[in-house]
Amino acid sequence: MSEQRIVVSPGGRLAGRMRVPGDKSISHRAVMLGAIAEGHTRVQGFLDGADCLATRDAFRAMGVTIKQPEATTLEIEGVGMQGLQAPPAAIDLGNSGTSMRLLAGLLAGQSFDSELVGDASLMRRPMLRVVEPLRGMGARIDCAQEGRAPLRIYGGARLQAVTYEMPVASAQVKSCVLLAGLYADGETTVTEPGPSRDHTERMLRAFGCAVHSESNRVSLRGGGRLLGGEVNVPGDLSSAAFALIGASLLPGSDLLIEGVGVNPTRAGILEILRRMGADISEHRRRDYGDEPVADLQVRTAQLRGIDIPPELVPLAIDEFPAILVAAACAEGQTRLRGAAELRVKESDRIAVMAEGLRRLGIAAEATEDGMLIEGGRPQGGEIDSHGDHRIAMAFAMAGMVAQSPVTIHDCANVATSFPGFVSLMQDHGARMEGMVAA
Ligand code: S3P
Repeated sequence: MSEQRIVVSPGGRLAGRMRVPGDKSISHRAVMLGAIAEGHTRVQGFLDGADCLATRDAFRAMGVTIKQPEATTLEIEGVGMQGLQAPPAAIDLGNSGTSMRLLAGLLAGQSFDSELVGDASLMRRPMLRVVEPLRGMGARIDCAQEGRAPLRIYGGARLQAVTYEMPVASAQVKSCVLLAGLYADGETTVTEPGPSRDHTERMLRAFGCAVHSESNRVSLRGGGRLLGGEVNVPGDLSSAAFALIGASLLPGSDLLIEGVGVNPTRAGILEILRRMGADISEHRRRDYGDEPVADLQVRTAQLRGIDIPPELVPLAIDEFPAILVAAACAEGQTRLRGAAELRVKESDRIAVMAEGLRRLGIAAEATEDGMLIEGGRPQGGEIDSHGDHRIAMAFAMAGMVAQSPVTIHDCANVATSFPGFVSLMQDHGARMEGMVAA
């Protein structure tokens, strides 16, 4: 089997104006809500990456007409809350945890049976966190041992609203319960121990559903309807994070990343990097529908290690591979705590990052829920991304400032969230190449 690699040579600088692909979380939700809404939904700025295409294909398999006149535009003919049809086979969601967890909630309320499967990484990830609350609402779901996929969801269950107290801050769990709540009798409430991304709530409101949010509680009533419309997807801050860190580290960089989502429930990366001494300014703040957007300007700065405040962790949960690379290149020590969730992402990001950083000669000590890093200058070497897109892209940033080239292995999944990553970085001055090895 062929293997995709990224080879990064040190040097160059990141400069000019850049646009990163659309936000992954918002793209998934636009497909899901557009499909069960009434009327037409046009999605612009859609992320044409494998994860969101898996969501698009799932709804096509359930009878929804979704046209894609351009890579980043979807035209969805909504079928209404009760209009989905039984899929002809198991729905394969590839590498996408968001697709599986959110769909589980939506499918729990349908009249037909369905089955959700994915790739080896997704089939290892914990699903009891969604299966348990859904069962509490009356859903009938089977899963494999230890709460893993495949998930078999039986149709025709009559869902009852619940108040669910989430043990960990998770937007996927919250969104799953809220989507099931659309089909439940009564008012469904979710409470969270800390804020997680609120794209579902914002988009539900934009589609006409009354969602009440108050400090750490979100509620909605079942039995309503959604109305389709226009969704303009911001650039993904989680993708911009790599460029923010690359430009901070590479001497002489000055980069403007345009139209990036800066929703406060996602913007922990900006706060963390600023505390590390990064030079990032926001320009032209505006809204795309219900989502705040800005142009982010980043210039090279000397970063310093910090004790990352645990309350910022859920607000930057996907950015830690990149943040840990920033810490590895910063002056002094960085401590990350309260981030045990990183162990159940597309890979065990604590173990895999510590392994990779050590291979580049950086002192990185994994702890149960975080890491201790002594900043320095990475050396060159070979990195195994373990098939995790964000690990691969994070180490590409390390390679730009390493002492000699860095080769990153097993990079095909970069296309799940950031199609065109290598060429976009090359176009803005990075010295990296994508390669296919036999
Ligand atoms: C996501 C929520 C987060 C995040 C994931 C996308 C979402 O997961 O890591 O990449 O779109 O709701 P958790 O809910 O597991 O924290």
